[in-house]
Amino acid sequence: MKVHKIAVLAGDGIGKEVMPEGIRAVDAAAKRFNIGIEWTSFEWPSCDYYLKHGKMMPDDWKEQLDGYDALFFGAVGWPDTVPDHVSLWGSLLKFRRQFDQYINLRPVRLLPGVPCPLANKQPGDIDMMIVRENTEGEYSSVGGRMFEGTDREFVLQEAIFTRTGVDRVLKFAFELAQKRPKKHLTSATKSNGISISMPYWDERVDAMGTSFPEVRHDKYHIDILAARFVLSPERFDVVVASNLFGDILSDLGPACAGTIGIAPSANLNPERSFPSLFEPVHGSAPDIYGQNIANPIAMIWCGAMMLDFLGYTEAHDAMVAAVERCLVDGPRTPDMGGTASTTEVGAAIAATI
Ligand code: NAD
Ligand code: IPM
Ligand code: MN
Repeated sequence: MKVHKIAVLAGDGIGKEVMPEGIRAVDAAAKRFNIGIEWTSFEWPSCDYYLKHGKMMPDDWKEQLDGYDALFFGAVGWPDTVPDHVSLWGSLLKFRRQFDQYINLRPVRLLPGVPCPLANKQPGDIDMMIVRENTEGEYSSVGGRMFEGTDREFVLQEAIFTRTGVDRVLKFAFELAQKRPKKHLTSATKSNGISISMPYWDERVDAMGTSFPEVRHDKYHIDILAARFVLSPERFDVVVASNLFGDILSDLGPACAGTIGIAPSANLNPERSFPSLFEPVHGSAPDIYGQNIANPIAMIWCGAMMLDFLGYTEAHDAMVAAVERCLVDGPRTPDMGGTASTTEVGAAIAATI
């Protein structure tokens, strides 16, 4: 049996509470499907590590993580002690860049049993895949602050859209759309206002579309696209977006489908030259940390995506089916209107798997 080496990076806040439930669920699936998993926990990256060492991770973090088959990541950030841009650029955003995880794949589904804030929506009405560009775009570190402290002070931050970077995320999104029954791709743009990068993005979407004649593709400006997510989410199948637009849509989508506490994400290096990273969409949630009430489903679903990426599709499907079953008649955390704890929900899902 091949043994997969997984690095466990629980991070901060509720990352530390949902991680044990993610591991428990993956272990249950591994047992059922005879998959070898070897977990190794790291105390970094975390804001506690920063307070002790003045950095989020040791200098040789890349060498230490490079040999792993995947990174299982909770959440990072504790803004009361470490500014968010310091903690995130010292950890998660470094992983995405330096491990070239250029796809951020974020499924959004309205599942049976989950209270939906939108009127008249049934399970199945929301079923989309957000494909977010994950290494460039608006998240550039290019720019700076000039004339600090004077009347002439200004800051400048560039957005970068490379042909390689744009084309590779579009190709992934079109290929994904091609495999899905609706074969529909929507691109998020803002070419009316952002007059250089977004017309370029649109041009590359049209060019890529010619290689996928079976995929119907359309585009919406990000403002009305956000409105349509709320008004008619059933219109969407695969949604491809730049780094920032994809970030916003991937909190909005799960909120429309009930709670961000169940939303998973996969930061993929499809070529497998580097480890891919699996993490909930949500953050460290300082407002609920320490109460054992965080929803562990996002972390568990990430575990399913990780097994899928490692080649175990059946195990993925069984884990998602167990989540769906427990949502119908199992315990629920308060974000879904229940009173159960993180541990109770995790235990119920693992037992169902
Ligand atoms: P957040 O996602 O941590 O929390 C937003 C709201 O959603 C909070 O009210 C929180 O209680 C709730 N929530 C989040 N996850 C939940 C869960 N599993 N179950 C129930 N409720 C849940 O976003 P934020 O408040 O903007 O950020 C807090 C910190 O996390 C910041 O430091 C931020 O930078 C960081 N962050 C990290 C990541 C990451 O590591 N991937 C992602 C987003 C935010
Ligand atoms: C996410 C998060 C991160 C992002 C933050 C924490 C830097 O919001 O993974 O969606 O903006 O990508
Ligand atoms: Mn986000």
